[in-house]
Amino acid sequence: MPSPLLPLQDPSLLQTKAMQSMFDCFEGLCEGTVIVDHAARVIWINDRYAARLNIDPVKAIGQEIEAIIPNSLMRQVVETGEPILLDLLEATNQTFVVMRMPFRDEAGQVAGAVGFALFSHYESLKPLFDRFSRLQTELARAHRKLAEARATKYTFSSFIGDSQATMEVKRQARRAAQLLAPVLLQGETGTGKELLAHAIHAGGPRAKRPFVTVNMAAIPETLMEAEFFGVAPGAFTGAERKHRPGKFELAHGGTLFLDEIGDLSLPLQSKLLRVLQEHECEPLGSNRVIPLDVRILAATSMDLEAMVEAGRFRKDLFYRLNVLNIPLPALRQRLGDLELLCEHLLEKTALENGTSAREMSPEAIDYLKHHRWPGNVRELRNVLERAVMNTDEVRLEAQVFKGLLKIQDDPVHTGSQPTSATTYTLAMAEAERRILESALNAAQGKVVVAAQRLGIGRATFYKRMTALQRMSPN
Ligand SMILES: Nc1ncnc2c1ncn2[C@@H]1O[C@H](COP(=O)(O)OP(=O)(O)OP(=O)(O)O)[C@@H](O)[C@H]1O
Ligand SMILES: [Mg+2]
Repeated sequence: MPSPLLPLQDPSLLQTKAMQSMFDCFEGLCEGTVIVDHAARVIWINDRYAARLNIDPVKAIGQEIEAIIPNSLMRQVVETGEPILLDLLEATNQTFVVMRMPFRDEAGQVAGAVGFALFSHYESLKPLFDRFSRLQTELARAHRKLAEARATKYTFSSFIGDSQATMEVKRQARRAAQLLAPVLLQGETGTGKELLAHAIHAGGPRAKRPFVTVNMAAIPETLMEAEFFGVAPGAFTGAERKHRPGKFELAHGGTLFLDEIGDLSLPLQSKLLRVLQEHECEPLGSNRVIPLDVRILAATSMDLEAMVEAGRFRKDLFYRLNVLNIPLPALRQRLGDLELLCEHLLEKTALENGTSAREMSPEAIDYLKHHRWPGNVRELRNVLERAVMNTDEVRLEAQVFKGLLKIQDDPVHTGSQPTSATTYTLAMAEAERRILESALNAAQGKVVVAAQRLGIGRATFYKRMTALQRMSPN
């Protein structure tokens, strides 16, 4: 037999009953309850909560909620009509787990909000919150580390030298730092292009934003596109499930440093050009377009103009990158900086090794001025490091360097090849210099004989010698 139906009740009465019993249930369960009106004024607070907060429950009525609970978010709930279902509230040196819910009048307007606080229950939730706060600390630390890694390492004062050539480089770089246009840094290996790129970023309005480097020579061509533009989740078999941001995206708002730009393949040059023109990029395997706000700095030790001529570098990309051009002089063109550079590099080495700094004798400086320095400041740093290891003397004499530099100093006799990083122009000049010099040696210094043997005229021989000497003042 089916059970006899219960008599029907008025639905609105049922609703009110349900509400009341739910409220009673929560009120009994929670140890603190407060109700505010639409203007976030307290209309009721239970005695337990008032006692916890050290306030008089009667005097609290009519006060703005913040007057009794300074960190309260009840006003936000009545203003937005959105509940805050689980939150932590710090008040009177205690932590409460709180839940805040709005309630509405017949017209659907927010009439006020109810807040429930669980303080004794907090203990049972403590492991969860401890874990949460631990994770938050770890996350903050990771963010800080990442920001440090993305921050620039050098400023203009790190670029040492007071020769006219160096001062001019620094003047141009300081001006470039204030602008948004792309900068192309051109110079031989070890002349400080990367250092200067950092300094330009650090000296400009984007200093606090990310500085991101992509090295074209260090990344295989097949991975370059993903590196630049990122990868959408599951873009290809084996792709990560999460979106992997590209360097462009990571540099958003900051600076992207395209190092060794001359090594970029022609197909990728076209893709890069498109991004630079349209100020947006599309991660691999996605149809989402990401708008970009990135300042571009590029560097190369290659002769980009010659590459453009030879069809190995896109002319339009060259013009887009070369808006501001800063040529970095080779060390042999600014030998006046040698002394300051040695002092700086020796100090740095000492600091890194925890030893006291060495100094250079004037004769040693003089000796170093006769080297060609194909590796520029990087080579100087290496030579100084080796010199420091080879002797315990505080003052480094020329003798120490004689053993270190002789071989590199005389490429004619060692037959050493120009390093792959030297520019094409310099490598050619070096080869030409060797040919002329060995012809001259073989002819016992007689230019007419040497020129004859090479099948060129005497005037041409002299002209070439003078041109080469102008390229390298030592
Ligand atoms: N003017 C300078 N003052 C102080 N240190 C310098 C200067 N120029 C270069 N250096 C130092 O020389 C080394 C090489 O510099 P950097 O890496 O910037 O050269 P680069 O032009 O980018 O070389 P490459 O073309 O080989 O990448 C670094 O240790 C850098 O700190
Ligand atoms: Mg570099």
